[in-house]
Amino acid sequence: MSEKDIVLGVVGSPNPDGRTNRLVKAALEGAAMAGAATELIQMSEHVVEGCKDCLPWVCAENQKCTYEDEAFELLSTKVLNCGALILGTPVYWWDTSAMVKYFILKMFRVFARSAPLQGLPAFGISIAGGTGNGLVSGLRPVYHFFQVMQMRALEPLPATRFNFGGAEKRAKELGGRIAAMRHERHPFTGLEERLLWYDQLPYLGLSRAEERRLLAALTGLALPEDRSGKVTSGLARADLLTAAGDRTGSMIEITRSYEAGKKAFEG
Ligand SMILES: Cc1cc2nc3c(=O)[nH]c(=O)nc-3n(C[C@H](O)[C@H](O)[C@H](O)COP(=O)(O)O)c2cc1C
Repeated sequence: MSEKDIVLGVVGSPNPDGRTNRLVKAALEGAAMAGAATELIQMSEHVVEGCKDCLPWVCAENQKCTYEDEAFELLSTKVLNCGALILGTPVYWWDTSAMVKYFILKMFRVFARSAPLQGLPAFGISIAGGTGNGLVSGLRPVYHFFQVMQMRALEPLPATRFNFGGAEKRAKELGGRIAAMRHERHPFTGLEERLLWYDQLPYLGLSRAEERRLLAALTGLALPEDRSGKVTSGLARADLLTAAGDRTGSMIEITRSYEAGKKAFEG
């Protein structure tokens, strides 16, 4: 089995036993069930140092960070050589974790120009395990990484504690799908095709209001039908208010629905 065939899962959480780990593991299980060899890496064991943005910009020429950074060397080598990539991040303050961001920024500095990851199949997972806020905005830096590095990304998986069971199932399915793509990279024909590809992926283009509506809807989906009524009716009212142009009124209804769903979920 060549390294090129491996489906690589990277856990971008400082907590190796947390929800990010569970979701990335579920994705790798799906990949393994589809016949792929898999490897899981905990970023917490390989924390990349911040890019020093040094000049002259030789790292882009020789594709190696000028400073000794064993963690970056290891992670970047694994990513460059895998057949498919799954990157999971916990959501911190509606964003990715710092360790994911440090890795991404150094990857840009060293590899964005030479673009050695063109066409690599990839997908990202975010887990907003607290309020659920940032389930989409936490994914955007990960998809920005995929896009700039010209990878061929599948749809993202935004997870919260409210839809966690469903997210684990979905992670498995996506893992199976990406496993089938691991033998071949399909680079884009140009920048235009690449940008349009990323534009058509779900979730990433949601407005803040739409993201909040999605979160409220997820709290309702987690509940049995007899307890989700307040969420469903609240969201229906919110949609009517949006249609009538009352966007603030709609957001207030969405927040009420979210609070009702969260209360029922926790009760
Ligand atoms: C610094 C910090 C910021 C956080 N910000 C958010 C947030 O914006 N939205 C959210 O839903 N959860 C937030 N959380 C909760 C984490 O997303 C949650 O604990 C998640 O399960 C962490 O992933 P892990 O289980 O892999 O460690 C935050 C946690 C920390 C430590």
